[in-house]
Amino acid sequence: MSQRWELNGLLQRRLWIVTGKGGVGKTTIAAALGMMASRQGLKTLLVETHGLSHLAELFEVPEVGYEPKSFKNGLSLIRLDPEAAFEEYVLRQIKFQFLYNAVFNNKYVKHFIDAAPGLAELLTIGKIWSLVEDEARKGKKPEFDLVIVDAPSTGHSLSLLTVPQVVVDAVRVGPLKNNAQEILALIRDPLKTLTWVVTLPEEMPVNEAVEMEEKLENQAKVAVGPIVLNSLWPQVLGKDSLQELKKAKIENPMVHLYRQRVDQSDFYREKLQERLKKRQILELPLIYQQKSPIRIAEALCEAMRTQLMGVKP
Ligand SMILES: Nc1ncnc2c1ncn2[C@@H]1O[C@H](COP(=O)(O)OP(=O)(O)OP(=O)(O)O)[C@@H](O)[C@H]1O
Ligand SMILES: [Mg+2]
Repeated sequence: MSQRWELNGLLQRRLWIVTGKGGVGKTTIAAALGMMASRQGLKTLLVETHGLSHLAELFEVPEVGYEPKSFKNGLSLIRLDPEAAFEEYVLRQIKFQFLYNAVFNNKYVKHFIDAAPGLAELLTIGKIWSLVEDEARKGKKPEFDLVIVDAPSTGHSLSLLTVPQVVVDAVRVGPLKNNAQEILALIRDPLKTLTWVVTLPEEMPVNEAVEMEEKLENQAKVAVGPIVLNSLWPQVLGKDSLQELKKAKIENPMVHLYRQRVDQSDFYREKLQERLKKRQILELPLIYQQKSPIRIAEALCEAMRTQLMGVKP
C-alpha cells in the first residue's frame, strides 16, 4: 500500500526541496507548487539555488537577488549565490563588515568557494536553513510559512543534502559543527522537510528517480514526498479508440507517433509504480495546449491540486 498524501499535511511542512534529473521540469513544478501553496493562503518563498534565474524568468520578475522579493499574492522569490552566502556567514561570525572587506572581499574568495569541495553546497544549504529557521530561533513568527527550493539536478541536490553530515563527521567542535548539526536537524525532520522527486516517462529519468528516492531516504535521510511523473502523454483518444487505431493499422505518421508516445507513457508509469511501490505518484500531463511556461505551471498546479485534494475534475 503506497503512502497517500493530502494537501493539508504537505502544507504543514516548512521546507520543500524539488529535485530530479536535468530538464524533467523541476523549475516548472517548483513554480506550480508555489502557486498551490500561495493559493491556500501560505506566505511562500521560492528559492533559486544555482545562481540562475529560471523561476524569475518564468514569473517574469526582474532583478531578483539575494534578498527575498515579493511579487504576487503571497509569493516571493530569492536567488542564492554562494558568494553572498559566504559574506553573510562570515559576517555573522566576525560581525565587522570592514574586516570582511579587508580579508575576504577579493577575487580569491570566488576561486576558493569554487575549489573547496562541498563549500558552495554548504553555504547554500546553510542559507536555506536560515531562511526557514532564523526568525523562529529568535522567538518571532517566521516571515514565510513555506520555503520551496528549486534544487539542482540529482547529484548536486544529493551533495546539498549530505554535506552537513560530512562537516559534522569532519569537524570536532566549534560553530561550523553546530551550524551543520542545526541544518541536519531541519532537513532530517520529516515534519519540517520534504523532498519532491520529479521525473518523466522515459528510461533515464525513471532510473534516476528510483535511485534518487533510495539515496534521499538512506543516504541523506530526508523524507520523500510524492513522486511527480511529469509530461505524460494525455489519452486524448481514450483506450478504445486507441485499440481501434491499432487494429486498423493506420500508417499515418502522426497516429503512429501518438500511439508510440501513449504506450511509452503507460510503460514507464507502470515501471515507476512497480519500482516505487510505497510512494504516491502524481501523474501530470504534457501540457500541449499552452506555450508560455507560466501557463504550463498553472495547468500543472491545477492537476496537482486535483490529485492531492481528491477532487474529481
Ligand atoms: N507538463 C509539461 N507540459 C509541457 N511542457 C512542460 C511540462 N513540464 C515542463 N515543461 C517545459 O519543459 C521545459 C523544461 O522544464 P523545466 O525548465 O522546468 O525543467 P528543469 O528540470 O528545471 O530543467 P533544468 O534541469 O535545466 O533546470 C520548459 O520549457 C517547461 O515549460
Ligand atoms: Mg530548472
